[in-house]
Parts: sequence; structure tokens; C-alpha cells
Amino acid sequence: MTQPSLTFRPMLESDLEQVNAVEQQSAEHPWRKAHFSDSLTSGYTCELAVLDGRIVGHCVMMTVADEASILILTVDKSFQRRGIGRQLLQHMLQKAGQSGCNTILLEVRRSNIKAFNLYLHEGFSEIGIRKNYYPMGRGWEDAIVMAMEPDTFLS
Ligand SMILES: CC(C)(COP(=O)(O)OP(=O)(O)OC[C@H]1O[C@@H](n2cnc3c(N)ncnc32)[C@H](O)[C@@H]1OP(=O)(O)O)[C@@H](O)C(=O)NCCC(=O)NCCS
Repeated sequence: MTQPSLTFRPMLESDLEQVNAVEQQSAEHPWRKAHFSDSLTSGYTCELAVLDGRIVGHCVMMTVADEASILILTVDKSFQRRGIGRQLLQHMLQKAGQSGCNTILLEVRRSNIKAFNLYLHEGFSEIGIRKNYYPMGRGWEDAIVMAMEPDTFLS
């Protein structure tokens, strides 16, 4: 399948309305606008995927020393399953490599098969479980902790 021709750029304060709209429409358990705003203020790596001038995906990554954590990755619902999530993830891995990170971590809900498959196929491995980590309905659900080794994303 032909991959869409995307560009990537850092998120700006002025993008927050659009990013929030994509997030609310596309994620089952969306972040609030304040989370994105706080991420920008904290200096996290906040990147956008843009297609024909339209924001179609966003990702936030926090870096502490040589460890990066992907905090959120969302693709606009009407643009999913076209390779955008994979390209945005690869872009973030490149950024992590450029900043000298040795490990990349993330957490994914056990029920989120789409995201789990994406991470697995891009080279992440499951390294642990956080029991009852995320609220879900009236209960809780586990987080799967995944990591990528430097050989995979620095090569
Ligand atoms: C997870 C998400 C980012 C994937 O983005 P996407 O652009 O649709 O993904 P891609 O088209 O790049 O697909 C990459 C891989 O993801 C997996 N995947 C994506 N959609 C899937 C689906 N509906 N079912 C199963 N696997 C899926 C597949 O492994 C796919 O590779 P393949 O097409 O070669 O099989 C997107 O579904 C999303 O935004 N979901 C809501 C927010 C979310 O849950 N984010 C993750 C938080 S941890």
C-alpha cells in the first residue's frame, strides 16, 4: 500500500484546539487539553503529523536522562489504518535516538490491541505488567509496559 506523504513538526500552543479535537474524536480514553498544554510547558517532545496542512496525528514523549517515555500517540480516527501511526512512531524513535536516549518505554492498556500490535510490530517488547493501572468503567485495567532496545531504534 502507498504510504501517505506526511510531514512532521513540533506542536505549538496555537495547535492545541485542533490537537484536542483530534484527541477527543479518536481516542477511547482521551487526554484533556490541559495535558497537552502542560506537556508543552514541561518541554516534552510534542510532535504532529501533518497531511495536506491538516493535523492528523500527535505524539508526546518525555525524556529523562537517557530514557524516553512515549506518553501518548493518537491518529485522527478518519485517517487511521493508513500507516500514519507507524510513521509518527518512527519519527519519535528517530528523535529519541538523536537526543541520545538508550531506552524507550511506554505503557498500553491491555485492551488496546491496535496500539499493542503497532508497538510490537515496530520492535517493542513486553517487559512487565502494572496491575489495575488504568481506570476503566467502574473498574480498572492492567497496563502492559513495553520497551525498545537501543540497537533497534539507533540502527
Ligand atoms: C493506535 C493508533 C495510533 C494506530 O495508528 P494507525 O495510523 O491507525 O496505525 P497504522 O496504520 O500505522 O498501523 C500500524 C500497525 O498498527 C496495528 N494496527 C493498527 N490498527 C489496527 C487495528 N484496527 N487492528 C489491529 N491492529 C491494528 C497493526 O499492527 C498495523 O500494522 P499493519 O497495518 O501492517 O497490520 C490509532 O489506532 C489510534 O490513534 N488509536 C487511538 C489512540 C490510542 O489508542 N493510542 C495509543 C495509546 S497507547
